Amino acid sequence: MKLQIKEKLASEILKVFPEGLTRTQLMALFEKPKNEKHGHLSMPVFFLAATLKKAPPIIAKDLCEKISELGITFLDEVTSVSGFINFKFKSHFLADELEQFIKAGAIGLTKKGEAKKMVIDYGSPNVAKPMNVGHLRASVIGQALRNLAESQGYEVVGLNHLGDWGVQFGKLVWAYQNWKQDYDFENQPFKSLFNIYVRFHAEAEKNPELNEFGAAKFRELEAGDPEILEIWKLFVDMSLVEYDKIWARLGVKHDLVRGESFYSDQLDDLIDKIKEAGLLEKSEGAFVVSMDDDRPPCLIQKSDGASLYATRDLASAIYRKEVLGCDLNVYVTGVDQKLHFSQVFTVLEKMNYDWVSECSHIMFGMYRFKDSGKMSTRKGRAIFLEDILNQSVEKVKGIIQEKNPDLKNIEEVAEIVGVGAIIFNDLANDRIKDVDFEWDKILNFSGNSGPYVQYTAVRCKSIMRKSTIPVPERFPSMPQFEEAELDLVLRLLNYETTLGEAFKHSKPNYVAAYLLELCQSYNSFYNKCKVLSDDPRLTQKRLYLVDATQKVITEGLKILNIKTPEQM
Ligand code: ARG
Repeated sequence: MKLQIKEKLASEILKVFPEGLTRTQLMALFEKPKNEKHGHLSMPVFFLAATLKKAPPIIAKDLCEKISELGITFLDEVTSVSGFINFKFKSHFLADELEQFIKAGAIGLTKKGEAKKMVIDYGSPNVAKPMNVGHLRASVIGQALRNLAESQGYEVVGLNHLGDWGVQFGKLVWAYQNWKQDYDFENQPFKSLFNIYVRFHAEAEKNPELNEFGAAKFRELEAGDPEILEIWKLFVDMSLVEYDKIWARLGVKHDLVRGESFYSDQLDDLIDKIKEAGLLEKSEGAFVVSMDDDRPPCLIQKSDGASLYATRDLASAIYRKEVLGCDLNVYVTGVDQKLHFSQVFTVLEKMNYDWVSECSHIMFGMYRFKDSGKMSTRKGRAIFLEDILNQSVEKVKGIIQEKNPDLKNIEEVAEIVGVGAIIFNDLANDRIKDVDFEWDKILNFSGNSGPYVQYTAVRCKSIMRKSTIPVPERFPSMPQFEEAELDLVLRLLNYETTLGEAFKHSKPNYVAAYLLELCQSYNSFYNKCKVLSDDPRLTQKRLYLVDATQKVITEGLKILNIKTPEQM
């Protein structure tokens, strides 16, 4: 339910509750009734049992009577059911609330986080490697969390923590210097880069000496050799062009690229600080910080002096706090990096950075494909994101050609629907669980899919095009709702809290689930209530609901980074 409705109700009923309770505390108790027949909003009273020394059903009944006596004008009915108070609102009140909600320039946006800054790291692929489905998750979950934070009033800095440093770049430089003539870097830079990477690893398996050459090159790179740096820069640029192409399709945007290399000149200082804090220990020639529990120690410096992934993440965390001034520092990566981030956070804690509590690792599960074998970029067997997007778009094109052969801009619509389907399938999943990848489910236009949600909005738009009466600016003054209409209104009014909850738990799937419910609710409204009828006032009222539904679906999909076509 909309925040304002909870505020209004909590302010009115506060006086019948025991002293000391605040309006905010009451607001936090409101929930969706277990049984929607019972009311529009419900509140458990179990928390009062100890204070009032009475059984919850009795407390609920007493409070219910007192609330009824208040004569609150916007309430239709207050009832109590086994320890819960249930509220039903007057129709005209809900109509007013809906109108204000739809009229507000930015539907569902609130200002809670205002003046707070969130730095969020998402996407962050590794130079020379095509993005795989893991990066799809890191990109779309991250962007959705970013959108949610913005909806809550946060200032957001989206970071691309590009994997552009480490010994593999020494290997790549070596491979490039020795084999570049075998590849078409001119016309197919990124593909050549990847192929040379795969070749290096294949050859190094037969001839391990190559790894030594690579390590030596990386030391030269770390020492700042200009010629080697130039080659490395070439790799970074070729890769970014490729990533940006894919992110443009996914609607993913970053504010800053701060690759791992960005921190290379801060690492000596960092290591000094760790040493001064008495945390650095020597272990088999390398330097580590131990964890004081059964986790393995965090590797800070290799025996040859080279830095590691964790070293760069430590420097990066400090940069995010001290230079970017974040209040929240969020990392979106797979669950396979759980240990890594827990180690990094522990080292920061041991260095007495109390802001480590503002850092969080938002993890996600893996994709499960049938019979695809294990993924490994080194052997060139990964499942590339771009191929999946292209396949999806092709398949959607086929479906549209069958269903709606006269559609004019098929290419454009297929891109929106095909890419949207992949994103929706990903985000509809509780991020922590693995995602099953099944084309039939992803592209099922009448199932719980992205195309289904888009199609519902498209149908709304088509009704509005057909109507001879324009959508009214204001909700027509005939707010007696039929059951299906009321259900739709209540669903629409739940959008705002859905965003708040999704942000609070970093779970974009709440928004996806909400949209599916909204579509269901709309579809049963559509089946039961004729929208375009001979009664102009009734038509206006229903058109208003159709338009409101279309707007909320479009906004909700935008939060998930999915576009809505005009027709499909
Ligand atoms: N480049 C890493 C990968 O592809 C992800 C980086 C995540 N961010 C970070 N600060 N470590 O797995």
